[in-house]
Amino acid sequence: MRLSRAVVVVFVVFALASVQIPTGSRANRPLFAGQLLAVERQSLRVMGAASCNTAKCHGATELIKDRVGKSCMAGTLWTAKDKHAKSFLNLTEKKGLEVAKKMNIDKPDTSERCLGCHALNVPAAQRDKKFDLADGNTCEQCHGPGEKYLEPHAEKGWTKAKSIAVGALDTKDVYVRADTCIPCHVGIDHDMIDAGHPYPSFELDTFSATMPPHWVEGEAPLSVKAWSVGQGVALRDSLKWVAKRAGGKAPEKYLQSAWREANDRYITFRHAVKVLAPANAAALESGMAALKTAMDAKDAGKLAAAADLAAKADETAKAISKSETTLDSAVKILDELPAESGEVAGGGVQCAEQLTMALDTLSKACARGGKKFPAAEAKINKLFEDLPEDASKFSADAYAKDLAAVAGSFK
Ligand code: HEC
Ligand code: HEC
Ligand code: HEC
Repeated sequence: MRLSRAVVVVFVVFALASVQIPTGSRANRPLFAGQLLAVERQSLRVMGAASCNTAKCHGATELIKDRVGKSCMAGTLWTAKDKHAKSFLNLTEKKGLEVAKKMNIDKPDTSERCLGCHALNVPAAQRDKKFDLADGNTCEQCHGPGEKYLEPHAEKGWTKAKSIAVGALDTKDVYVRADTCIPCHVGIDHDMIDAGHPYPSFELDTFSATMPPHWVEGEAPLSVKAWSVGQGVALRDSLKWVAKRAGGKAPEKYLQSAWREANDRYITFRHAVKVLAPANAAALESGMAALKTAMDAKDAGKLAAAADLAAKADETAKAISKSETTLDSAVKILDELPAESGEVAGGGVQCAEQLTMALDTLSKACARGGKKFPAAEAKINKLFEDLPEDASKFSADAYAKDLAAVAGSFK
């Protein structure tokens, strides 16, 4: 029997409440650990990539008949193409050592500041025989600890709901997926960025597509949902940074960066909210406006409201994940985005990047679903050309002009 969703949720909440929280250090987890923390709370053992990637299971080199999609090659794809497989090893490559050195860290592969996002660094008691820290961000980082589902999930008649009830994460639910990826991808601290760490430019649908996916991709409207929910959860975590920076002793420029990141995300997300969660639009709009006023006035007290607004962004993302997204909603959002060209001048290259990924993701979803906009394609490609590798070479004016030219192309 397949458990209904409500039953599963109740069961998981119960399971979380009834297991003991391990005493291992958690200082190494990403700052805003969404689903990851839930995984740790289960204190279940992590079985290691070697347990998943055998030739008969997920380590096949070609498709196996009767197996769903690419599932038999998930491990093969991860090992060969997914950067998560190298995330631990990269800590001690040239770039990793450079970033670490600037932060006075001698050994990034043993540092709590790095391991939380570059490996599955659970307490020793949770590490099973085949666990290897050097596997980096492995299967169980995103799918949940395998102790209780590893063996049975390969049996006939076993369902995904049963796995979820014993520790697996529901990666099909885009909110859960967003809340898994984003604490790592948006949780990057400003002092690390100062030291040369890559900037958190994450967008859920684009990044899922470039992992590359080791699963059967959903229907086109799911991309629209993944993009929208991802922007909402990313806005949530950016706003948490604003609240943290406003109350902390960090340099003023880190507060400025946090605010810019939140605003960059809001500029695209607000269009999703208008179309997909209109009841929340006014509260988010006035909340962001109040924060902007507080930023201009350097009013730290009023900036504390960013924490409440983060909760509102989270609630909105959850609502969108349960709403019905259609390609028509994507077209409505696409029609509005070019009007944001004025924001780019103030927001800079990262703002432009968020806008470009939004246009690209949504128009590709439309094309996949049969709504093609040939006039838009070349114009969006031009926007990508306007985003130089070296951010100091970015021309906001040229980008804004090219963005404005996209207006009216989605007909
Ligand atoms: C535990 C933290 C963590 C989680 C969870 C996580 N990532 Fe990552 N991700 C990383 C790290 C660290 C890297 C950099 C790996 C490297 O290159 O060394 C990375 C790299 C990537 C890249 C490659 C980026 C590039 O520059 O080429 C993509 C794409 C990506 N992640 C997508 C995702 C998606 C989609 C999810 C959720 C389904 C996700 N990540 C979940 C930490 C995480
Ligand atoms: C909050 C999560 C987080 C923490 C903590 C973190 N990283 Fe990362 N790191 C990431 C993500 C996510 C990426 C991929 C970013 C992208 O390409 O979009 C990444 C990418 C990198 C890369 C680029 C890898 C490549 O493919 O070239 C290096 C190097 C790196 N991190 C080093 C470090 C070091 C050193 C530390 C500790 C001082 C650290 N990171 C801590 C999340 C994190
Ligand atoms: C960075 C996060 C991440 C990592 C690491 C990861 N996965 Fe996934 N995986 C996902 C997401 C997201 C999906 C898509 C969920 C969906 O549509 O059901 C997925 C889907 C799958 C599916 C298909 C499930 C289905 O119902 O279609 C299998 C099988 C799978 N992963 C196995 C693995 C294995 C094995 C590994 C390790 C070698 C792994 N994954 C590593 C995020 C990840």
